[in-house]
Amino acid sequence: MLADLVKRSHPLAADAKLLVLGGGYSGRCLASLARAMGTPVLCTRRSLDAAEVDLLFDSNGQDHLDPASLEGVTHLLCTIPPDREGNDPALSKLLPTLRSLPLRWTGYLSTTGVYGDRQGGWVSEQDDAEPALDRSIRRLDCEKAWLRCGLPIQILRLPGIYGPGRSVLNGLQQGRARLIDKPGQVFCRIHVEDIAGACWHLMHHAEQGAPAVPAVVNVVDDLPAPTAELIRHAVSLLDCALPPLEPFDQIVESMSPMAQSFWSENRRVSNHRLCHELGYRLLHPNYRVGLQDCLNQDKLNPSDLRSPPRSTNG
Ligand SMILES: NC(=O)c1ccc[n+]([C@@H]2O[C@H](COP(=O)([O-])OP(=O)(O)OC[C@H]3O[C@@H](n4cnc5c(N)ncnc54)[C@H](OP(=O)(O)O)[C@@H]3O)[C@@H](O)[C@H]2O)c1
Repeated sequence: MLADLVKRSHPLAADAKLLVLGGGYSGRCLASLARAMGTPVLCTRRSLDAAEVDLLFDSNGQDHLDPASLEGVTHLLCTIPPDREGNDPALSKLLPTLRSLPLRWTGYLSTTGVYGDRQGGWVSEQDDAEPALDRSIRRLDCEKAWLRCGLPIQILRLPGIYGPGRSVLNGLQQGRARLIDKPGQVFCRIHVEDIAGACWHLMHHAEQGAPAVPAVVNVVDDLPAPTAELIRHAVSLLDCALPPLEPFDQIVESMSPMAQSFWSENRRVSNHRLCHELGYRLLHPNYRVGLQDCLNQDKLNPSDLRSPPRSTNG
């Protein structure tokens, strides 16, 4: 949980001030860590009714961020995804404002989808991006725009994000988890607290004037694994029934185009740069540790489940 991250983190310099463009799931987690570490934070959202909003920013709206409200911002995280045309919403609307800030670190949350399909093989930051899906091509365009925008940028490539309120445990609880079997298929993932922890670690790394600040860093856990393995583990944690086994070949035609594209790529993404070269220690190194944390934080118990408890299934 976040308290564990706080315990092992060091404060940033006293003059540091963080701006999170897009205080959604990951953005809010970093903002919570920063606040707990005593760093002032400003979080944008698209509605002033949203939780933990400090400033309104919607690239499709009329309101623009007032540069005066951003005075003294030294660190920036952008979590906003590309627009439908592949333009970056933050850069399109805010670049002159961002350039006027005394930024010492800028993080951009991208995806490991830019690597494309590797047929289950390992891939690292040294490999060329080979995106095949339209959304990954758009994402790579945004990465390139951030890399040439002139800010002190690091691109963080993320796999599937999970954490409290957003895990297979919640899927089982709501009766929507599917046990799909596709032999040889794995997915990578990262707990949301490790995104916040990695950002914080990279901010420190940049702050120390480290000679080599890599432009691209994969932020993934140690254990690529099939989703069916996670579901089986989650079922054992919740002591509920397994959903029926569905062979991939028999259901692929009935899947949504989005789900089909999700299952069409297979890769193992290396975290060697983050965890060995840059020295970040994962709080949730694999799904077993991460799901136990989700169980604790979500305070789930079998009586809340829509799927039947294990005992009714024999
Ligand atoms: N979810 C995954 O498994 C996954 C995997 C790999 C990469 N990623 C990428 O990693 C990033 C963070 O993921 P997340 O799950 O934390 O995302 P999230 O919860 O959806 O947060 C995205 C944030 O961007 C803001 N936003 C979206 N469109 C905007 C626009 N046009 N103008 C201004 N703000 C806008 C949202 O505003 P509101 O708060 O008002 O909604 C939200 O705060 C995203 O870029 C996502 O695509 C996600």
